[in-house]
Amino acid sequence: MKHKVTVVDHPMVKEQLSLVRDRGTNQVAFRKAIYRLGRYMAYEFLRTLDTEEFTVETPLGAAKGGRVKGNDKVVIILVLRAAIPFVEGMYKNFPMARTGVISAWRGPGPDFPIEVNYAKIPQIHRDDVVVIADPMLATGHTLLEVAKRVSKQGKPKRLVFFSVIATRQGIDHVAKSFPRAEFYTCAIDPGLNEHGYIVPGLGDAGDRSFGAPR
Ligand code: URA
Repeated sequence: MKHKVTVVDHPMVKEQLSLVRDRGTNQVAFRKAIYRLGRYMAYEFLRTLDTEEFTVETPLGAAKGGRVKGNDKVVIILVLRAAIPFVEGMYKNFPMARTGVISAWRGPGPDFPIEVNYAKIPQIHRDDVVVIADPMLATGHTLLEVAKRVSKQGKPKRLVFFSVIATRQGIDHVAKSFPRAEFYTCAIDPGLNEHGYIVPGLGDAGDRSFGAPR
């Protein structure tokens, strides 16, 4: 199946992606790099929002001005906990985004059951652009469950998934139920291991940002 997938491959993105992949990158540097990736991805994504022209007066005359329209229609859904620094970076370009927060825990394979223990999702309007942010789109089970919960709050104009690394399998799993969804990612990796981790990926994004729970 062919879906709407954009791989953001700007050199600055590649640099930060290499940092987060590197097993030697420490917690602070990792979190900073995820933050930057959120910022760069949102910056690239802004190209796809409507713009409007207006006339601006310079000290010497009139010039054509332009601005992004609809930045206030962006709704971010933050998937705990790995998306915290990712969304923090996204706010640099979506400063007015309404934000939903959802905690979704993925159980073991092969079924990867999803347990949602917290969800606070705003009302979604028809002209909203909903961006679901989770650094790792692995099996797609978590994001499918998140998208189902979000769609109970209304049908947006666009439903977009932001990840740092995705797999084709994960994208297909989500897109089967949400065929109009758009996927923005920095890389598509070849596969998953038996625990549902992306290979080569970057490891556990939450643990690397915040430390491994005991
Ligand atoms: N979540 C992660 O943090 N890493 C993966 O590779 C898959 C899911």
